[in-house]
Amino acid sequence: MNYILAPSLLAADFQCLAEQMKQTEENGAKYLHFDVMDGMFVPSISFGVPVLKSIKGATNQVMDVHLMVQEPIRYVKDFAQAGADIITVHLEACSDVGNTLREIKACGKKTGLSICPQTEAEELLPYMDLTDMILVMSVQPGFGGQKFIVESLEKIRKVRDMIEKSGQTIDLEVDGGIYQENVEEVLKAGANVIVAGSAVFGGNPGENTRVMMERLKQY
Ligand code: DX5
Ligand code: ZN
Repeated sequence: MNYILAPSLLAADFQCLAEQMKQTEENGAKYLHFDVMDGMFVPSISFGVPVLKSIKGATNQVMDVHLMVQEPIRYVKDFAQAGADIITVHLEACSDVGNTLREIKACGKKTGLSICPQTEAEELLPYMDLTDMILVMSVQPGFGGQKFIVESLEKIRKVRDMIEKSGQTIDLEVDGGIYQENVEEVLKAGANVIVAGSAVFGGNPGENTRVMMERLKQY
């Protein structure tokens, strides 16, 4: 399996963003996780298309865009044009999940489908053949720096099992409250793409990436 670290820019220092991104890239982080919040689906507002466009040119990392946005279908084209490589939407935020995923594919991008902690894994089943990556939220979306919800481990195991049964190649990403201390449990449960905000950008991003990558490489 391909194990990937996706540092979440939400926790980065925007005064020296390019430098921090570079430190994660040099230490082996293949993705950058880009959290878009609209103040509706989640209470916070973060950043959007212009910021993505400007950082796209500064790195070779895969842009892993997590849309915490109501009716994200409205913005798929804009994020695709701005440089997103993977566009993840929330199942709870779409009135038509299938069409939203098809729109992402029509833009030539990889699709991600995310579920909040209160959403059952089985709700993903109708969309397995439209999904390149499933994102299990292990905190309530909206803020960085929260505590990992332990019940998520059971859900991760269930989703990994569903992926295996489907016979398809689908990545399993987990987002929220992941640190050096618990990343192993998350990997063991079946995740292969690890989002980490505070764990990477709290302190020295290069050194933190290196340590997290060591954990991932053991798998
Ligand atoms: C939460 C975001 C996460 C967040 C993770 O709504 O989707 O990507 O940045 O941050 P940490 O790793 O600090 O929990
Ligand atoms: Zn996220």
